[in-house]
Amino acid sequence: MVKLRRHLLFSLAVSGLRGPARALPCVGFATLVAYRLLVTGRGFAMPRRTVSGPEDEQIRNLTARALRERLRALGLPRSGPRKALRLRLAGAEHRVEASFLSKRRRQRVWWAKEQLRWNMTNRDGYVRPPPSLGRGSQNPLCELGECGDAACALYRFRAGCEGVRSDFMNFCAKQIEDHFWQVQTHNDEGLVYCSLGCGCLYFDWELLDQLVTRARLPIDQVWLVDPAFWRNETFSTAELKALRAFGQWFAGVFDVHSFRTARSLKRWCRAFSGQFGLAHVVMECDSVQTHTLTDDADFCRSVLHDEALGLQIFSQRLANRRPGPGRRRGPVPVAPVRCVRRRKEDRLETMQRDQWTSGAWLPDFLVNFPEDEEDPADWIAEDLRRRYR
Ligand SMILES: *[C@@H]1O[C@H](CO)[C@@H](O)[C@H](O)[C@H]1NC(C)=O
Ligand SMILES: *[C@@H]1O[C@H](CO)[C@@H](O)[C@H](O)[C@H]1NC(C)=O
Ligand SMILES: *[C@@H]1O[C@H](CO)[C@@H](O)[C@H](O)[C@H]1NC(C)=O
Repeated sequence: MVKLRRHLLFSLAVSGLRGPARALPCVGFATLVAYRLLVTGRGFAMPRRTVSGPEDEQIRNLTARALRERLRALGLPRSGPRKALRLRLAGAEHRVEASFLSKRRRQRVWWAKEQLRWNMTNRDGYVRPPPSLGRGSQNPLCELGECGDAACALYRFRAGCEGVRSDFMNFCAKQIEDHFWQVQTHNDEGLVYCSLGCGCLYFDWELLDQLVTRARLPIDQVWLVDPAFWRNETFSTAELKALRAFGQWFAGVFDVHSFRTARSLKRWCRAFSGQFGLAHVVMECDSVQTHTLTDDADFCRSVLHDEALGLQIFSQRLANRRPGPGRRRGPVPVAPVRCVRRRKEDRLETMQRDQWTSGAWLPDFLVNFPEDEEDPADWIAEDLRRRYR
């Protein structure tokens, strides 16, 4: 049960290489050339937003006491050694620092995908890209992964649902691109993307890589939230290893910040939104409805841009409450559901909701959706709240 719950809550994922790869078989070489030009053209330039670092004179010379005072004024935690306080005050505490990946290794990955030498396999409970790219070249992205539970409707190899992930990825890319050009203001330097429950990050990697290379969308910030981003001296979670690979791939393209809870993300946003902006897109790519995380006025105000777009896919919803004492409900498997929402004041309003039916998305007015009886007391909601806030 514990395992099941963990899976339900955080085994997100989604994505697909099969769809896009199949859609582009004959333009492989042209695309590769275009990628090259683009990569060189954009030069995978350093992030355009210049941010003060912990080595900034103004921060470097502060005493621990002065640092704590400033942190308190910003509503940030005040514990830790001076070095950590300086980092926190500079807004860099959650930044994912990663070394650069060479252009050659990046091109090998694109090439393997183009050539359909990118067989995803189920390893350690996750569906992951191949460990090797051939000719002795290790895949720098082999630690990324997505949900590997065969019982989940979002499982890539599940009969009848094979196209769901790639389809959703393309759908999101289109939605985000249209949305960003529509709501972007002159203050925005680039897209700010936030992903909740992002796990081993395969979906986010594939989507963002597509946005950067094909859609040429300027991306400025990526904020990732997952309770599994932690380590101690001897142990790193699979999610943290994936985060490293992700950070390395995008080093120099945009800033990546990772958080273990939505609560720490909110706090950080309240302190630094003037510097880092607010999220234009919030992604929830999980297998249960995680609406409760975003159905929070405080989250909307602190983290989201005025007209933020919410994108979501899930494959489970809550069953009717079990009879008898106790308030628990069990999740029931359903077909994949995707949802588009938009911020309206302090909430996200549903704009579109579709269910995957016989190989295509059907809008909810054609599907007999069991009406939500969302109840914040329900155990999944509670669990999510506890983990993310
Ligand atoms: C910070 O300290 C250094 C010496 O450690 C000094 O040279 C510099 O002028 C100081 N800067 C400020 C802004 O006080
Ligand atoms: C990948 O999968 C295809 C089709 O399933 C197969 O023909 C090919 O040999 C596989 N490639 C590798 C490198 O395993
Ligand atoms: C680190 O975490 C692992 C896994 O939870 C645990 O087995 C190990 O004892 C921890 N090590 C330290 C030094 O805390």
